Amino acid sequence: MIIKEIELRDFRNYESLNLQFHNKVNLFLGENAQGKTNILEAIYLSSLGRSFRTAQDNEMIRFGKDFLKVKVTAEKEEENLTVEFAVTEKGKGAKVDGVKIKRISELFDHIYTVIFSPEDLRIVKEDPEKRRRFINTELCLTVPSYYGSLSDYKRVLRQRNAFLKEAKIQGKKVDTEILHVWDEQLSVSGTFVMMKRKAFVEKLKRISGEIHRNITDGQEQLEIEYEPSITLKEELKEQKEQFQKDLQENLLSDIKNATTGRGPHRDDIKIIVNGVDLRRFGSQGQQRTAALSLKLAEIRLIQEETGENAVLLLDDVMSELDAARQKFLVHSLGDVQLFITTTDLTEEVKKALPEGYTFYVRKGTVSESALERKRK
Ligand SMILES: Nc1ncnc2c1ncn2[C@@H]1O[C@H](COP(=O)(O)OP(=O)(O)OP(=O)(O)O)[C@@H](O)[C@H]1O
Ligand SMILES: [Mg+2]
Repeated sequence: MIIKEIELRDFRNYESLNLQFHNKVNLFLGENAQGKTNILEAIYLSSLGRSFRTAQDNEMIRFGKDFLKVKVTAEKEEENLTVEFAVTEKGKGAKVDGVKIKRISELFDHIYTVIFSPEDLRIVKEDPEKRRRFINTELCLTVPSYYGSLSDYKRVLRQRNAFLKEAKIQGKKVDTEILHVWDEQLSVSGTFVMMKRKAFVEKLKRISGEIHRNITDGQEQLEIEYEPSITLKEELKEQKEQFQKDLQENLLSDIKNATTGRGPHRDDIKIIVNGVDLRRFGSQGQQRTAALSLKLAEIRLIQEETGENAVLLLDDVMSELDAARQKFLVHSLGDVQLFITTTDLTEEVKKALPEGYTFYVRKGTVSESALERKRK
């Protein structure tokens, strides 16, 4: 899949913008705060229906305006595909090929993007929440019912937590029968989420392990493991029962803390290199390389699951990688279309890049005259 064109209206610092893209490399050059990341954000929006920077959709509406529009034209299986996205003060909506969709989750299997930013380079070191988000994003794109189950799970979890909190504030005894109804519901959606995550981590392990061996010339063996907070079982039915059992077991602590201590919202993945826990004992360079392997694995996984290439959005990461990693990133991906932002085009990065377009971004404009084709 490649993205051919984008149109923006009142999106961040763009009043109106229309760009046609190269099918290999699109490089956005400019000083800080000019609007480079904003373009990647708009592309990402067409894929997942939300920003990677904010949960507040209306923050993306240009200051002083009432609504924003993003239109992305992609080519998939040699056919054109358009996704239009609008945000007003009241909410958001989208159309795919001119047809309004009912739920944002219906966007997921159209445009596939993978974003890689400096923050992702720290994914090994960061809180488990970041690693869960990594897993969730991928699963939303590739497993149609995942998003729904995860939303169900989160909704019931909120209710259960609110109930526990209420009891604590009022100093009341918790009605365990009511709690049990929620436990049962949590175990249904929660088990589904866990099973999908478990299967995903298995695949991720295989693919990222292979990539990591290549990047490190066989020096490092990367392994990842699913670390759920509910005891793992093989069978679906068994897992559901175990889920409820673990919640039961944790009941006193849940009541005391007025929150739910076990469940997929506490999951993590363990990242191991040559037998050592990378989060605790890895060097910064090792952690970054592992992050790179995981990101590249994400693209390969989407390929395997959907038969399509995702587009890769590289926000400010090139300058954070050494020359060998840069080269690997750009050249190991075959036909994957790249969107790269950078403030500083070093000779190293220049050398690493194959042919493509360079866009100069300044104060929310990308002037046509500054658009030039890069020489090979
Ligand atoms: N809702 C908005 N309306 C208008 N302008 C906005 C809005 N949100 C952000 N901006 C402006 O967009 C600019 C930031 O854009 P962006 O994050 O794309 O910068 P960048 O070129 O990637 O910079 P850096 O190199 O520092 O990452 C800032 O000037 C900011 O004031
Ligand atoms: Mg930026």
